[in-house]
Amino acid sequence: MSPARPRARALLCLLGGLGPQLLLLLLRPPAAAGDCSLPPDVPNAQATLRHHTSFPEQITVTYKCNKGFVKVPGKADSVVCQNSKWSELAEFCNRSCDVPTRLLFASLKKSYSQQNYFPEGSTVEYECRLGYIRDPSLSGNITCLQNFTWSKPDGFCKKKSCPKPREIEKGHVNITTDILLGATIYFSCNAGYKLVGAASSVCAFVGNTVGWTAEFPECQEILCPEPPKVDHGMIQEKQSSYAYRQPVTYKCMEGFTLHGQSSIYCTIKDDQGEWSGPLPQCRETDVTPTVSKSTEVNVPAAKSTAVPRTTSRFHATGTPKGRGSTPSVASTTASGHMCITLTILLMMLETVG
Ligand SMILES: *[C@@H]1O[C@H](CO)[C@@H](O)[C@H](O)[C@H]1NC(C)=O
Ligand SMILES: *[C@@H]1O[C@H](CO)[C@@H](O)[C@H](O)[C@H]1NC(C)=O
Ligand SMILES: *[C@@H]1O[C@H](CO)[C@@H](O)[C@H](O)[C@H]1NC(C)=O
Ligand SMILES: *[C@@H]1O[C@H](CO)[C@@H](O)[C@H](O)[C@H]1NC(C)=O
Repeated sequence: MSPARPRARALLCLLGGLGPQLLLLLLRPPAAAGDCSLPPDVPNAQATLRHHTSFPEQITVTYKCNKGFVKVPGKADSVVCQNSKWSELAEFCNRSCDVPTRLLFASLKKSYSQQNYFPEGSTVEYECRLGYIRDPSLSGNITCLQNFTWSKPDGFCKKKSCPKPREIEKGHVNITTDILLGATIYFSCNAGYKLVGAASSVCAFVGNTVGWTAEFPECQEILCPEPPKVDHGMIQEKQSSYAYRQPVTYKCMEGFTLHGQSSIYCTIKDDQGEWSGPLPQCRETDVTPTVSKSTEVNVPAAKSTAVPRTTSRFHATGTPKGRGSTPSVASTTASGHMCITLTILLMMLETVG
């Protein structure tokens, strides 16, 4: 008894090593009447046996094409065990091109999209993707070549173009490359204006066509804040608003003198209006001695200094009327009298003579 046990164990080990299928085949009872033998060989295909070890009546075995081969649509790919014999199965696997290349600009027409068998010489048709337009001069087909690769597709679909961008007032639209699908355009404003809205826009799908993704921006004039105040000074011709580069000119109130530049300018920093510097100053006017003497001394001098008698006009304003005019009138009347007397005397002498 004792030596027999290890021998049995060794046999089981040996059988186990041969694999479960063979083990089952060896252990299974003799094939019952009507069972089929192993399924037949089919070119370029393998039967999918799963765990079957016996093939009773009516059992179906399906085949799978080998790598590089594809099932020809419409052809049978399985066998049935009937009356202890497998049904007939014709060759159903054939070489095929892979599923056609995915193209950026086109997609396979629907009728081909479910297909996976593309024998040598077969042709497929593409249609342009959204945002692309067909170039009618080029073929939209590709063909499965002898070496089971696809012919190279032409660039038969062209990118659609976005509408030509309109100019923006007081600004500029920069087209860097083109205005085709995927292109970006940039917006900018003239000096003194700031961009309100998007700085760029992309030509992309809009609905079932292409269009600009961003609204066009506006260029808004940048204004400076209220000009700063200057003590004892004021702004000349004050305006309600000041734009880029516009000056503001200050003047001083009476009795004050302006120091520095009288004007400042509206400048722009980070899209904000800012006044240039430095601001002028209004300082109290200095009362210098030279200026005060000449004005103050002159007035009394004109009053006090004796005005020559000959300048009767000046005299009349500077001195009381009676004093100057009377003697001058008297002297003229005196000389008149003398003249008359002399004439009478001369006439008398003549008559006497
Ligand atoms: C395999 O494809 C070729 C063309 O590439 C064709 O002539 C042949 O009949 C096909 N064979 C089968 C089994 O479909
Ligand atoms: C291929 O292209 C031609 C011409 O563009 C067209 O007439 C034909 O229908 C296309 N499709 C196939 C499968 O040949
Ligand atoms: C298949 O054939 C075509 C033309 O006959 C050739 O251009 C291509 O390089 C070939 N591809 C391979 C992978 O051999
Ligand atoms: C347009 O943009 C490019 C790149 O940003 C730049 O080099 C070019 O100077 C710009 N042109 C104009 C007119 O603004």
